[in-house]
Amino acid sequence: MSLFEVAHGCTLWEAAAMDGTAFNAAMAADSRFTMENLLLECGSVFETVRGSLVDVGGGHGAAAAAIARAFPHVKCTVLDLPHVVATAPTDDKLTFVGGDMFDNVPPADAVLLKWVLHDWQHEDCVKILRRCKEAIPARNVGGTVIIVDTVIGSAGSQQGIASKETEVLFDVFMMAADGVEREEHEWSKIFIEAGFTDYKITPTMGLRSIIELYP
Ligand SMILES: C[S@@+](CC[C@H](N)C(=O)[O-])C[C@H]1O[C@@H](n2cnc3c(N)ncnc32)[C@H](O)[C@@H]1O
Repeated sequence: MSLFEVAHGCTLWEAAAMDGTAFNAAMAADSRFTMENLLLECGSVFETVRGSLVDVGGGHGAAAAAIARAFPHVKCTVLDLPHVVATAPTDDKLTFVGGDMFDNVPPADAVLLKWVLHDWQHEDCVKILRRCKEAIPARNVGGTVIIVDTVIGSAGSQQGIASKETEVLFDVFMMAADGVEREEHEWSKIFIEAGFTDYKITPTMGLRSIIELYP
């Protein structure tokens, strides 16, 4: 049982289902801020997306909206739980799909998972990534999963003490809701178990890295 459950008598997702207003707004605020920087710093990662992208656990669609604006040729879909999608603001550049990422991910050339996998333990991450792999085409025709999440220590010797401490503190914070921040070797085990063959980590100026994952 997570500390969140001990404190509130329900999981974070059950609490968000009862009233997700603050949570969904906080996620959208993070996405607006983070995606602006990521697209400036690592825009080339998204340039390679062929024609379509599905933002899995994409909340109210702020990350997908930033991608759709920067790359108008990419058709962006947002998958999230039905009650989250039901309260999302309408956006004529996005298609919202209510569903469960453990059951099915709509097909697309690329899948985005921003700040999703750190909410889940190893086995659940493997299940989610297996669904994502089923949704994308082969690598030679552009299939890719793009993960935006922390890779502890990925900036190596370039990393200052403040960002190392922040990574560790964030890990403690995520533990409260049964989440986890991971080092590369922990990510790598998940990727292999989910059936992926190769990945590339690009550290960013902030706390999060971009991981490109190939089938
Ligand atoms: C930490 S939030 C990240 C939201 C968004 N990706 C962002 O970075 O702003 C995790 C998201 O996963 C969604 N989620 C949780 N369980 C899910 C499930 N089984 N299927 C689809 N989405 C789910 C939540 O509703 C929430 O929007």
